[in-house]
Amino acid sequence: MNAVEAVELRKRFISYERIGLIRRRKTIANALNGVSLNVKWGEVYGLLGPNGAGKTTTVKILSTLLIPDSGFARINGFDVVKEAKKVRGIIGLVLYPDKGFYSRLSGFENLVYFGRLYGLSRGKAEERARELLRLVNLDWAANRPYEEYSLGMRARLSIARALIHDPPVVFLDEPTIGLDPVSSRSIRDLIKGLKREGRAVLLTSHNLWEVEEVCDRVGIIGSGKVLMEGSPRDIKDRLGLRYVIEIEIEGDSKGKVIRVETTDPVAELKRIMNEIEGNGLRISRMRVNEPSLEEAYIRVVSG
Ligand SMILES: Nc1ncnc2c1ncn2[C@@H]1O[C@H](COP(=O)(O)OP(=O)(O)O)[C@@H](O)[C@H]1O
Ligand SMILES: [Mg+2]
Repeated sequence: MNAVEAVELRKRFISYERIGLIRRRKTIANALNGVSLNVKWGEVYGLLGPNGAGKTTTVKILSTLLIPDSGFARINGFDVVKEAKKVRGIIGLVLYPDKGFYSRLSGFENLVYFGRLYGLSRGKAEERARELLRLVNLDWAANRPYEEYSLGMRARLSIARALIHDPPVVFLDEPTIGLDPVSSRSIRDLIKGLKREGRAVLLTSHNLWEVEEVCDRVGIIGSGKVLMEGSPRDIKDRLGLRYVIEIEIEGDSKGKVIRVETTDPVAELKRIMNEIEGNGLRISRMRVNEPSLEEAYIRVVSG
């Protein structure tokens, strides 16, 4: 049985915007237009898409916070609407932006508090809190108040909290957004650890480059639908995402720039440098341009 199974999820939001004193304008957002996906045990699935694509809405439905208009979803076989309580017992959730921590309490006290909410005894909650603080590398800051935590530390504490009841399925909404490269890396390492433990992880992001290293499979979501699915490599190929390497050769009076397109810039750079040095030449300037995922999204979303 799949850890996560979603079939044709639809969700529409209707909101009213005041225009003038009395008149209101009705706005309809078709957030999900038939999202289907599944996540296997021990798999990290990345739901990728631009802002407003429907990522958070999907996560909220899968974690029982929102009810779909139609379609269904099951977590370990439990229906997210009809068996919401069972689902809540087996999922861990990190939403962005994260709320609910007590700023004056320490990281340790916060985790113990949430452990108690999940019904752990005080002793068990404390043991679990210590274990999780070690896991997310915050044991050194266990007794510092939450308000003194940096963004990266807060992100790690959120993951610790999501694991307090040892859930086999974990949802992470934009786990690395706004984090510096070092913190992002430690979050990615944590996610790899969850996978090694056999958990199923579904994360969302708007940056393929950020998550390609941790995701086994990626689904590109746009206009409320999963438009493309595959391994990160597969997705990059199908989107035609290529790095562009630009190189200027020293002493080349015409200022000629060599341009090479590649999906593997590290290997390609080595090859080019060997070739140039082999010919007794030197590089005067070099630039590697990252491909724009935005452009690729636009191409996919507009068919
Ligand atoms: N509570 C809400 N009320 C009205 N519209 C919403 C609400 N939540 C989301 N939407 C709309 O649904 C669409 C999808 O939003 P969301 O799932 O948050 O996208 P993402 O997480 O990919 O940025 C957007 O157009 C958004 O404006
Ligand atoms: Mg979102």
